[in-house]
Amino acid sequence: MDKIRIQGGVALKGTVTISGAKNAALPIMAAALLADGPSTIINLPALRDIQTHKRLLAHLGASFKEGSPAEVMIDPTGLKGFEAPYDLVKTMRASVLVLGPLVARLGKARVSLPGGCAIGARPINLHLKALEQMGARIELKHGYVEARARRLTGAEIVFDLTTVTGTENILMAAVLAKGKTVIANAAREPEVVDLAKCLRAMGARIEGAGTDLITIQGVPALNPVLYRVMPDRIEAGTYLAAAGITGGTVTLADYDGSCLEAQLNKLREAGLEFSQTKAGLTAHGPRKIQSVSLTTRPYPGFPTDMQAQFMTLMCLGQGTSIIQETIFENRFMHVSELKRMGADIQVSGHQAVIKGVPRLTGAPVMATDLRASASLVLAGLKAEGTTEISRVYHLDRGYETLEKKLSALGARIERIKEAG
Ligand code: EPU
Repeated sequence: MDKIRIQGGVALKGTVTISGAKNAALPIMAAALLADGPSTIINLPALRDIQTHKRLLAHLGASFKEGSPAEVMIDPTGLKGFEAPYDLVKTMRASVLVLGPLVARLGKARVSLPGGCAIGARPINLHLKALEQMGARIELKHGYVEARARRLTGAEIVFDLTTVTGTENILMAAVLAKGKTVIANAAREPEVVDLAKCLRAMGARIEGAGTDLITIQGVPALNPVLYRVMPDRIEAGTYLAAAGITGGTVTLADYDGSCLEAQLNKLREAGLEFSQTKAGLTAHGPRKIQSVSLTTRPYPGFPTDMQAQFMTLMCLGQGTSIIQETIFENRFMHVSELKRMGADIQVSGHQAVIKGVPRLTGAPVMATDLRASASLVLAGLKAEGTTEISRVYHLDRGYETLEKKLSALGARIERIKEAG
């Protein structure tokens, strides 16, 4: 299995282009199943999760035509399969995003229950409860959830807690349902808004995306679409944090800071400075990193998907930082690896107390999820000596050509190909 090897200590300098957002691309690709004809999606990131999603859509009968890199045409005309099998769902939980479109389009779906994962239990009970309210009959059998409905009907859904893919699934179910659906306590994440924009471009009638109350008036059919996926705000934040930890200067090409408010606020408190020009958003890393505390929250709060990367920055802060993780119950898997690199972190329940240390030292490390792996890359960029990160496949799920982009910024980073 491949490894990433980093020789730390280089202040990053230069410009990086942020790829399309994984967590917007995945629901938008699923939404293509709802159209009466082939849709073209552009600015798709070249990631393992996108490949897995294509395999799933192909398994369901959709066909593909690859365009230029980052572009794909998805034709749902041959859609007939309605099962998302265990083998695909277990490698990518976001496979559950076909549930809403399949019930809306075919009147049935059979999706393997995802089960727990490295960051938490992550049930889909709220997706199922909402579909039931829309008239679907739900059965759990042999590890699969089966949902059936002749035609879904609009309903008033109140989510008990904010769920991103839950909101997306119900949005996709409701656009072809009979009558009006209201989703209260909807997720406000920019990726939900991007999906809603795509659906509206297909002819869906949706209001309120980006607020916690979304109203959808069902329509009988949707058109194919040409849609450009938004840039990835978590990839963007990760490169800004890389500028911060290495004391470098990094410009995100053509990027404006929208959707990054909570991240920028915390990075500013940590000592980074930002300037917005025609070229993009530039981050200037500080000489000394200030310790800052934060709590993860649904958007517009600080994203859980940036918690691990921010914690790495805090490992070198001038003081003590307290980070509270409120979204997932098991998202501190990076802590033990950061400690092996010299960090001083104490975890108690959902809280981590990070006392800044003067330096981190390189070590062989591994992580069990995508963002935890990114936090180890950041640590390696600053650490004294060599850091070797194994299980690189986690990074390949969510960061397009990470080592190439970091090398172009001056980092001494390489991928070591290993057999087996
Ligand atoms: N939850 C339930 N029941 C449900 C749904 C969610 O209890 O039916 C709980 C979850 O267990 C969790 C909380 O609600 O504690 C929030 O989970 P949410 O459903 O919002 O997460 P998700 O939709 O499964 C998406 C992203 C994640 C990101 C979270 C939170 C995609 C494909 N995934 O997951 O991204 O961390 O929202 O913002 O959009 C990543 O990219 O690394 C990643 C994990």
